[in-house]
Amino acid sequence: MAAGRVIFVTGKGGVGKTTITAALGLAAAGAGSRTLMIETAADGSLARLFQIEKLDSKPCWIADRLAAVAVDPQHLVRDYFSRLLRIPLLTNRLLDSASFRALADAAPGIVEFLLLEHVSTWVDASFWQRRQRFDLVIVDGPASGHMRKLLRVPRQLLGLVVAGPLRHAALHLESLLTNPDRCVVVPVSLAEELAVTETLETWAVLRQELFLPLSRPIINRVFPRRFSRSEIEKIARHEDGGPLFEAARYAIAMRQEAERHARALRRGTGKVPALVPEAFSGVITPSDLCRWGRRLLAELFTDAGWGTKPSGSRTHATH
Ligand SMILES: Nc1ncnc2c1ncn2[C@@H]1O[C@H](COP(=O)(O)OP(=O)(O)OP(=O)(O)O)[C@@H](O)[C@H]1O
Ligand SMILES: [Mg+2]
Repeated sequence: MAAGRVIFVTGKGGVGKTTITAALGLAAAGAGSRTLMIETAADGSLARLFQIEKLDSKPCWIADRLAAVAVDPQHLVRDYFSRLLRIPLLTNRLLDSASFRALADAAPGIVEFLLLEHVSTWVDASFWQRRQRFDLVIVDGPASGHMRKLLRVPRQLLGLVVAGPLRHAALHLESLLTNPDRCVVVPVSLAEELAVTETLETWAVLRQELFLPLSRPIINRVFPRRFSRSEIEKIARHEDGGPLFEAARYAIAMRQEAERHARALRRGTGKVPALVPEAFSGVITPSDLCRWGRRLLAELFTDAGWGTKPSGSRTHATH
């Protein structure tokens, strides 16, 4: 069976990573891919988008071809050491919650390494097929800083470990992460100074330092373009200060701000950002998610059918 693909969704806190994960998941499953979304934050927000109380460490099916799973780092580490030590009592002692932090501090990168290993097992073609396998795994990743740490781990290990199974595992992860046919990082931003700056910083590390494949950046929560250029000029000249004109001026300013940030992202990344609109109702519905996801699949990858490699190289905005 062919190996599956992985998408890592990242961005500053609160920019819409979970929302974009859900949108891409629904659209990819709708287009025929067996898709798994992985919640890493343990905040239940992915589950809430699908009206599920809580995700489990085993995948649960939430729509046709679409499953979701929660990953608890402490659970991954416990699992790893119980396989290593084979004495449950010892593992429990070692990993009671106080010592867990000490262990994670003593072996930096261990949690990240186990998380990446875990992600890869859902997409690796395995002869024995002991686990379910997915065509696509979408990781609702941690915020940018932590994501950079996560994706740097295989390279760091390769610098430290010269032989043996750990080097083998690191090589395997590195080849998955750097293969544009199998992996892509999707950076999500808002039309705000801090979010854009953080996106550009992440871009520099992931692309120029780690050589990872990135898609076009996404700007989430963008105001639609409601007025033509001549209408904008007329509204600006109009002296009416009433609420309708105020609302129109606000909408125009927000749109212009988004376009300014889109230009900055384009200059910094060389790619035209894909824009996701603001849902003004305050409630994001499944049909919003499907619509945004279908559009993003088409804009971020060469084809919406997920049949060829992610390109991220289109040169025009469609929103
Ligand atoms: N396009 C949108 N229109 C309106 N509201 C949105 C949109 N995208 C996201 N939101 C809202 O913004 C908030 C943050 O979104 P989300 O939880 O997806 O962000 P996040 O990056 O995953 O946050 P965190 O860093 O806390 O994990 C949520 O309340 C969500 O409903
Ligand atoms: Mg989130």
